[in-house]
Amino acid sequence: MKVLVIGNGGREHAIVWKLAQSPLVTQIYVVPGNGGTAQIATNLNIPSDDLEQMAKFAVENEIELTVVGPDAYLAEGTVDLFQAQGLRVYGPTQAAARLEWSKSYAKEFMGRYRIPTGKFATFTTPEAAKAYVRETGVPIVIKADGLAAGKGVTVAFDLETAGAAIDRIMVDKAFGAAGASLVVEEYLAGEEASLLAFCDGKIAVPMLPAQDHKPIGEGDTGPNTGGMGTYAPTTAFTPELLEQVMAEIVTPTMAGMAAEGTPFVGTMFLGLMITKDGPKVIEYNVRFGDPETQVVLPLLESDLAPIMLAACDGRLAEVEIKWRRETTAVCVVAASAGYPGKFTTGIPITGLEEVEDSLIFQAGTKQLAEGKLVTSGGRVLNVVRLGKSIAEAIDGAYADLRQINFEGIYYRGDIGHRELKRQPRK
Ligand code: AMP
Ligand code: GLY
Repeated sequence: MKVLVIGNGGREHAIVWKLAQSPLVTQIYVVPGNGGTAQIATNLNIPSDDLEQMAKFAVENEIELTVVGPDAYLAEGTVDLFQAQGLRVYGPTQAAARLEWSKSYAKEFMGRYRIPTGKFATFTTPEAAKAYVRETGVPIVIKADGLAAGKGVTVAFDLETAGAAIDRIMVDKAFGAAGASLVVEEYLAGEEASLLAFCDGKIAVPMLPAQDHKPIGEGDTGPNTGGMGTYAPTTAFTPELLEQVMAEIVTPTMAGMAAEGTPFVGTMFLGLMITKDGPKVIEYNVRFGDPETQVVLPLLESDLAPIMLAACDGRLAEVEIKWRRETTAVCVVAASAGYPGKFTTGIPITGLEEVEDSLIFQAGTKQLAEGKLVTSGGRVLNVVRLGKSIAEAIDGAYADLRQINFEGIYYRGDIGHRELKRQPRK
């Protein structure tokens, strides 16, 4: 079977890496791909915004499964376009993807189906938003309504920060059209976790729970990024909690989406806060997380290809989904100097060949014609290490990361710190 993967991040490298191990898969194409996918699959020279040409390629080359990685493609209706051509594609339709591309829609949806989440209000003018914030007080959370690459959220502990965040979204238009309206949300205190699930429109099968580290700085300080590191599984997520999340959140979401005429197919990704009143939804994403995928898929013992096929065909209940037990995976993201702000690209990357025991999933990398690998994005690469304990995985990942270099390389030195407190070094 020939497969097409759309996207160019570490997430897509991890998906391609996992699919490449499937005996069912004979060839993998990636568009646009990156330096890492170039080594194990065929990157296609199709402009990254030319969906028509991608679908045409898939038809002409008898692609039996297309996997859409990034949210922006799902929001644009890539799945609808492919389906209209009779293609099988793993991911939600544009209407189902609304759970991610409109935070206000997601909030109203949760209200309709009594899915636990923080209180919220939506605004279309900065004055009204500020008046509301003055009334409710801090801490408070300000979010651009649309897609903002994980950077449209500010958790404000004082009114000045809240006001500045509102201005950034609505006056400076830092996120463009995504900031035409904004959501002001109740601050939820607790431990955060990411739960991904395979969905076939009817049922959802959870993956192993992961934890991301969104802020750029150690100790979870500074502005939010797309994610600076992850680990899985997180023991903050007990089996009882998983049962509660499935019953109170995942199952009602699947039923609600079906009831609204937009059944959810693909990966549902719940950003959860485990509060003292139980788990609450921070946000829905409608795709694999990046960098959650980089730790979750290496722990998947089963073949990914039949799972995705079954999800597309509405028969997920029939496939076996097995996970590696007694193994923890840690992912540390190496980023360009300046990220999540401005950064330069084209910087040579060295030392990858020194790494033996970790998996390297490349993100913002490009392979030049002469074979040289250079940086091409903010998050450049992911070092993923499996271990029998979190400590072993962390130590291994950092030991390998120290072999790698590019000018200005930045990474957090404290990935997994919460889990390490729960499971200290012996
Ligand atoms: P999001 O892009 O919605 O996942 O938000 C980015 C990060 O902001 C989350 O991972 C949380 O750490 C934080 N955050 C978002 N919403 C809330 C909330 N209501 N309460 C506390 N923290 C939040
Ligand atoms: N790691 C968070 C995300 O993929 O949105």
